[in-house]
Amino acid sequence: SRPLVYVTRRVPQSGVDILRKTCDISQWNSDDPVPRDELLRNVEGKDALFCLLTDKIDKELLDRAGSKLRAVATMSVGYDHIDVVECSRRNISVGFTPDVLTSATAELTVSLLLATARRLKEGISAVKNGSWGTWKPLWLCGQGLDGATVGIVGLGRIGTAVAKRLQPFGVDKILYNDAIETKNAREVGAHFVSLDELLKNSDFVLCCCALTDENKGLFNEAAFSKMKKNAIFINTSRGGMVNQDALFKALSTGQIAGAGLDVTTPEPLPTNHPLLTLDNCIILPHIASATYKSRYAMSELTARNISAALQGQEMPCQVKL
Ligand code: GLV
Ligand code: GLV
Repeated sequence: SRPLVYVTRRVPQSGVDILRKTCDISQWNSDDPVPRDELLRNVEGKDALFCLLTDKIDKELLDRAGSKLRAVATMSVGYDHIDVVECSRRNISVGFTPDVLTSATAELTVSLLLATARRLKEGISAVKNGSWGTWKPLWLCGQGLDGATVGIVGLGRIGTAVAKRLQPFGVDKILYNDAIETKNAREVGAHFVSLDELLKNSDFVLCCCALTDENKGLFNEAAFSKMKKNAIFINTSRGGMVNQDALFKALSTGQIAGAGLDVTTPEPLPTNHPLLTLDNCIILPHIASATYKSRYAMSELTARNISAALQGQEMPCQVKL
């Protein structure tokens, strides 16, 4: 009989079409996340799970799924929502979607950087609310990238793609910090430095690393206090990288100049959250990979990850412990 796959959301159809050729599919056919109790009920007896970053894949869920489950594939590059150790213990392959979203995510990172540095949020609201009086020499001045030092925390696929895209803007120096010096660095002219050095010397600090138990809350009060007063902080990784109370304090006291976030804790951020009251903080609703090309490719890669695992093969993009 055909393997059973549960798809936890309405997703780009091209991925579902790939799975339909060989599998029987049941799907949470909504644009909103499947409620937890519904998810737990629906994974029972499935061979594979096509999930999103909004689904927590933990021991409880794996227990409910039962012993047939062989593959968990997430339509995301991040897999911090999946207990990969527990999956490995049960011989369940875990798939993710690197590469196909690198360009889109790098573009959005640069967009957020430019938008924050050049104060677009304040400019747009000034035009809209009538506080645009006239052209003024120093009104809404921000910082350009020309001659700037950019620090990238996490020079992986996305961090490297960001560095490449920044070079034509005339940045002076790209610094990076990562677990180890990477060979990507040479091709983008990035210099390996300690995190402290990066924080102290960068005009722009970009968070482009994967969230882990070890680096959770890395951008805390101590980190913001080391940054330059003109520093702009950008996060397109995971909200969990940042202590948001510390960020609010740093932004509201002028310890740093601005922040651009595509990710927050929680998501969505409550509309009465203090960060939303700040003119120097731009917050986007986790859209870094949101191009049609990228989202379709993510859906297809997730499906191919599942198909491979169900045929007893290694996934095209399998998480390695
Ligand atoms: C998005 O955040 C992803 O991990 O793909
Ligand atoms: C992280 O997953 C990256 O692609 O850089």
